Formats: sequence, structure tokens, C-alpha cells
Amino acid sequence: MNPAPLGFFDSGVGGLTVVRAAQELLPAEDIIYLGDTARLPYGSKSPETIRQFADEDVRFLISRGVKAIVVACNTATAHALPILHQHYRIPIIGVIEAGVEAVLAEPKAERIGIIATRGTIRSHAYQHALAQRRTGLIIHGQPAPLLVPLVEENWIAHPATQQVLRTYLDPLVEKGIDTLMLACTHYPLLIPALSEILPTDVRLVDSATTCAEHLKQELTRLDLLAPADREGKLEIHLTDLSEEFENLARQFLRKSPGRIQRATLGN
Ligand code: DGL
Repeated sequence: MNPAPLGFFDSGVGGLTVVRAAQELLPAEDIIYLGDTARLPYGSKSPETIRQFADEDVRFLISRGVKAIVVACNTATAHALPILHQHYRIPIIGVIEAGVEAVLAEPKAERIGIIATRGTIRSHAYQHALAQRRTGLIIHGQPAPLLVPLVEENWIAHPATQQVLRTYLDPLVEKGIDTLMLACTHYPLLIPALSEILPTDVRLVDSATTCAEHLKQELTRLDLLAPADREGKLEIHLTDLSEEFENLARQFLRKSPGRIQRATLGN
């Protein structure tokens, strides 16, 4: 047992989709969430920059006494997870392995479409992880850089978003995908819009739930679970505060985010 908080970080508030899934599965855990809103987006930045940012995010969380860290950002997982594992002894869990496991949980999955930020697609982290675990897969990676700003504008049901989604997805549908991996923290909010566009037999996979399940397994294995007889608290820190982020945080969490604090990194 370990009552210390868990640390989560993302480039912004999108990683709160992972926090929400974790809170459902691990209600007793205290969570410290860091969103690097001052330097958002990560998805268009170089691997070197993301590794530096991720390192600073991890240091911030370690300085707050967390017992394990979840990289609740696909781009940061894709570029920085291996190097974070080399540099830190604290358990650090990313979202990609969980996403890949969720895709392959369906034995018939064969033609996989992946939508993500440009950085995640270019890293080939998902493509490699999938191909390593199952041979014969046909994998199509589609960068979808306009989706994050559309979600952040709350244009979820807007015709412009439908148009953009069709532009990204039509080529994948033409290639006959049977599974679509939503490889970005923001995309779970687009599931209703995606369901309208995609053929009904295309399976949608998002990594938030599987990541929470993976986290629970790891905490159990390492004997790090918090005592069950309590209600966990959530503390949100952002590197830039604005009303928009507060509203977005509410949307991603589907409840009040409470008081959000301003974080300063690099101290
Ligand atoms: N959190 C990022 C991800 O999951 C999306 C937002 C960004 O580009 O920073 O890839």
C-alpha cells in the first residue's frame, strides 16, 4: 500500500480523459495533474523539444512526491517514454502500449487506421508496437493536426469538424480499415461525430480506458495502491491559466475541475 499521489501529465487538458478513466477504476487514488498549457501543442514540435518538455514535466511531478507517473499524452509517450524510463526509476506508464493492447484485444483486427498528431504518426511508435505484436497487419497512419484545435474550440458538432473528419477518414475507409485507433488525448470527445461518419463495422479504440486498466495492474503488481477506504482527490496544475482551459477541463473531466493552480516548471 502507498497513499502517495499519482502524477499525470499532458501538453494541456486533453490528458484529463485519461484521469477520468483512472478515477473510475481507482477511486481511492489522489492524483496530481500537470497540463503544460503554456507550451501546447506538443503534436507539432520536434522529438528533441518534446523530450525536454517531458523531462521537465516529470521533474515537476516528482517534486510533488508522486509514487508513479502516467504520460497522459500520445505525442509525449511516442517521443519521450523510452528516455524517461532510462533516466528515472519511478514507474512511468504511457498510453501507447495500452492503446495497442486494446486494438489487438480483437483477434480479427487486421486493417488498422491510426489518427493522431503529426508527431505521433511520424514517430511510428504505434505502427512499430502493433507490427511487433502481430504479423500481417495492414496499418495506415493518418496525421490529423486540425482536430486538436477544433476540439479546443468546442466545435465538436460543427459542420467544419465533420468536413475535416471526412477529409482525414475517407482515405482510411477506402482502404477498408476494420479498426480506428484514436491516438490522441482529445479524440474521445469526437466519438459521437466519428460514429456518424464511419461505417458501423469499424471498431473505435481509445487508449484512456485501457491505460487506466494497465495502471491498476501495475500499481497492484508493485504494491503501490492507495488504501481503499478513502476518496481520492484531484489537484490540477497548468503552466498557463485561462478561462478557456477551465471550461475545457470541465468538458474533458465531465465535472468541475475544482481550483486550478498555476505551475512553474524548471525550478
Ligand atoms: N496531448 C496531445 C496528444 O495526445 C495532443 C495535443 C497536443 O498536440 O499537444 O498527442
